[in-house]
Amino acid sequence: MNMFELIRRRRSVRTFDGNPLRPEDAEKLLRFAESIGTPYDIPIVWKLLDARADGLSSPVIVGTDTYIAGKLRRRPHAEEAFGYAFEKLVLYAESLGIGTTWIAGTMDRAAFEKAMELKADEVMPCVSPLGYPAKKMSLRETMMRKGVHADSRAEFSELFFDRSFARPLSENTPCREALEMVRRAPSAVNKQPWRVVVDDRQAYFYEKKSKGFVDAAGWDLQKVDLGIALYHFACAFDENVHLSISDPGLSAPDDVEYVATLIAD
Ligand SMILES: Cc1cc2nc3c(=O)[nH]c(=O)nc-3n(C[C@H](O)[C@H](O)[C@H](O)COP(=O)(O)O)c2cc1C
Repeated sequence: MNMFELIRRRRSVRTFDGNPLRPEDAEKLLRFAESIGTPYDIPIVWKLLDARADGLSSPVIVGTDTYIAGKLRRRPHAEEAFGYAFEKLVLYAESLGIGTTWIAGTMDRAAFEKAMELKADEVMPCVSPLGYPAKKMSLRETMMRKGVHADSRAEFSELFFDRSFARPLSENTPCREALEMVRRAPSAVNKQPWRVVVDDRQAYFYEKKSKGFVDAAGWDLQKVDLGIALYHFACAFDENVHLSISDPGLSAPDDVEYVATLIAD
């Protein structure tokens, strides 16, 4: 299945059918996770966790006891690196018919961090349940989706720009499909903080910052969303892009910050 189809099909799954994750699926997912590299070159340690054995819980998930989590060193750009890698895993799971949900908040974080043996200089940004989607969503899941308008995304012209933030990009652009893949990405509270300025073969990624996403230690959850957006864009080029962090110095709105540039090879 092509990546665009996977991106179009994926949704957060919070209601599972109660069947345990098959050992061969667990094995494939863990092996795949361990093979993931990111343009930021920050290693991630992955673990499959068992909610019963490890005493884990998430109030929004029903019908599975299996979770996957990753941890990495707190370093500049760890957020984007994690977003890029975890989304790659999420889409691989989708290709196997396995449901996932990015979870950064609605979980017993202390229990997950203990199960991950998190050290002082490490961060475990998000976890995901793994299992087979139930035919029908729980009432809570349906309500949650409504609450964040999970089935809708901002318009193309609100997110993407032509060489300057003053000019919205026309949908006739040659990179329409790559940007459409960005537009459909998942994000925390469905805020879709990515803004992209396209200039010839370069795409400058920016973060439109909302209040309440940066913690006391400076960890910025919306930069994880930016990592997801970078991965979706890179997918359109089979990851034949390279990343550079070099602010082009464009004039940007006050709450919009430069994050990274992707350049088609
Ligand atoms: C970084 C990140 C953190 C998230 N944290 C949570 C969470 O704590 N709980 C939850 O139920 N969903 C969480 N989500 C899922 C989003 O709410 C969801 O992706 C968004 O509403 C769009 O819906 P969709 O994934 O079905 O397309 C998170 C998503 C991302 C990308």
